[in-house]
Amino acid sequence: MNEKKASNQMWGGRFASGPAAIMEAINASIGFDRKLYAQDIEASLAHSRMLAKQAIISAGDQERIAHGLNTILKEIQSGAFKFSAQLEDIHMNIEARLAELIGPAAGRLHTARSRNDQVAVDFRLWTKSELQRVAEVLKGLIGVFLDRAEEHAATVMPGFTHLQTAQPVTFGHHCMAYVEMFGRDLSRVRDAVDRLDESPLGAAALAGTGFPIDRHATAKALGFREPTRNSIDSVSDRDFALEFLAVASICGTHLSRLAEEIVIWSTPQFGFVKLSDSFSTGSSIMPQKKNPDAAELVRAKTGRLNGHLVALLTVMKGLPLAYSKDMQEDKEAVFDAAESLDLMLAAMTGMVGDMEIDAAAMKKAAGSGHSTATDLADWLVREAGLPFREAHHVTGRAVALAEEKRTTLAKLPLDELMAIHPGITRDIYSVLTIASSVRSRASYGGTAPAQVRRQVKAWRRRLAKS
Ligand code: ARG
Repeated sequence: MNEKKASNQMWGGRFASGPAAIMEAINASIGFDRKLYAQDIEASLAHSRMLAKQAIISAGDQERIAHGLNTILKEIQSGAFKFSAQLEDIHMNIEARLAELIGPAAGRLHTARSRNDQVAVDFRLWTKSELQRVAEVLKGLIGVFLDRAEEHAATVMPGFTHLQTAQPVTFGHHCMAYVEMFGRDLSRVRDAVDRLDESPLGAAALAGTGFPIDRHATAKALGFREPTRNSIDSVSDRDFALEFLAVASICGTHLSRLAEEIVIWSTPQFGFVKLSDSFSTGSSIMPQKKNPDAAELVRAKTGRLNGHLVALLTVMKGLPLAYSKDMQEDKEAVFDAAESLDLMLAAMTGMVGDMEIDAAAMKKAAGSGHSTATDLADWLVREAGLPFREAHHVTGRAVALAEEKRTTLAKLPLDELMAIHPGITRDIYSVLTIASSVRSRASYGGTAPAQVRRQVKAWRRRLAKS
């Protein structure tokens, strides 16, 4: 276990021998933080340019540094770069290679900087661009739902509470509920970007630096709105990573509810939708089966997202200011969550866009379970002047009668309805059909096809502007 290794070239000065293999294994993050190579090089380029501009390093050294960093970028992109676990992380791997390439000038790059502000700026850059990508993908998913909602603005289906048939709704309306959810996710993504958009570079180890650096210049060069305002907070804050995970978890929750509905809708018992072959699998033993595996996996992957959020919250809780190595555990959580969320969003966008809607099956189910009972009660209030509670009671008796006769409310003869309440007239039948029921729910945000079309239009305008 305790094999001797050469002492680490970056901080090995005070160690007689190299770290034990176990120390290297627990300490190294290069296995995952190599993902940050492009951001690390981008931030180092901006930092070195600022140092030269402020006459902290010479223009010649800056040129050598920039040339070396660009060479390293190409080496990593082509796969030629040799990563070393002994050099711990992406920052020291790149800096060590820079020294090999350009000699002593490489040592000047780390002036007025620490790995603490370096990792914070790299990770913010990565998280920011990932959030911006998620925003685009979410817009794509919302767009697919808007198309489906428009196409099915008047397609009726049962609306559920407690997964029991409640009132008829339109499938377009149901789709628009998801537009609202993913629309909120999109706004959360944008909020997160807005809060994250500050550069910690120049906070150095934790206290700032005595060198005359220009933090506004590096912030601007890296595309941040402004520099962070407190050097201690700059290196100890991981809110941006937590927010990424929180946004991902909430979005995952929405995706998993959708996944569950697709699983239910695609059963032969419901038969509301048919998944395309590209998003389902067959069974190796039961030839009749078509399984919604992609939806099930979206439902399951939400567990990973929630796990990562709880993991990082737990890492961060109770950490004293400023930087502690605990914080190195932030990256794998975010990287894996980002990869999972990407896949989940892509799978759902494909599934929802491709699935076939069985309008006839939806309509048939919409009429079951006396789903227009509320319409009957509302009619009694509106046309016969009954208080709602009494109307509810009268309707209950009509439902009981229909049950007893094994028929539907719309098929009960008028004289039998009149025997329950004399105020009922032939006009009642106009509200007992599914189509009239949904058409009548035209309150703002209601299920009526006209309302659905109105919201589709408003959302298209909102998306185009965002
Ligand atoms: N690999 C480290 C991380 O991800 C970089 C910062 C190390 N800083 C330090 N003082 N050891 O957190």
